[in-house]
Amino acid sequence: MLYLYKLDSMYICIEGIDGAGKTTQCKLLKDWLEENGCRTELIGEPTQSPIGRLIRRILNEPSLPDDDQQKILGLLFAADRLLLKDKIEKAKDEGTIIVSDRCFYSSMAYQEPEDWIIEINKFAIKPDIVIVLDINPENAQRRFEGLERFEDRSFLERVRKKYLRIAEENGFFIVDANRGVNIIQDDIRRIIAPYLGICR
Ligand code: TYD
Repeated sequence: MLYLYKLDSMYICIEGIDGAGKTTQCKLLKDWLEENGCRTELIGEPTQSPIGRLIRRILNEPSLPDDDQQKILGLLFAADRLLLKDKIEKAKDEGTIIVSDRCFYSSMAYQEPEDWIIEINKFAIKPDIVIVLDINPENAQRRFEGLERFEDRSFLERVRKKYLRIAEENGFFIVDANRGVNIIQDDIRRIIAPYLGICR
């Protein structure tokens, strides 16, 4: 196999709107990487830290005007992300592949203004590879039927457009997530496979 880069380790981030299927795909990717002999660690944002728990509480019980709430969330997400810095650096030093369910680019897509988000996240570690799972908000919403929290569709449509723009500007991979779980995972594996040489 031809390897694209000679990296010592890798920080992979799977991005996308709510309901795109990131969590499932991250787990499947981790299993496959381990089957291929890669030491792998799964992380996600928001984290399980006290800040992450506070974020989930605010998301579940919105109490402020939307604009203020998004700013406060932006700051909390940036703080929560900093808690991962050490862990990611250590994992990279040990040659571990990190698979992350969301990262800095979630804040870029969900919060604003963009220059402020970049500023408050300037110490966050940026992933080596970002894969955006692109899904139609209508299909995404179906996955959430019966669940309490779900962003409204027009908001998700805006977030989706931002993801596509960010992906284009940064040369990220985009995978069509309107399809079955295994087909999506096959595409993700095809993207990652050329980098697998780093695990040997
Ligand atoms: P989600 O991926 O649904 O986390 P979990 O399944 O663990 O609850 O993320 C929660 C919400 O947070 C989701 O609507 C996206 C949003 N979010 C942001 O708005 N900005 C961010 O920087 C991050 C990481 C998430």
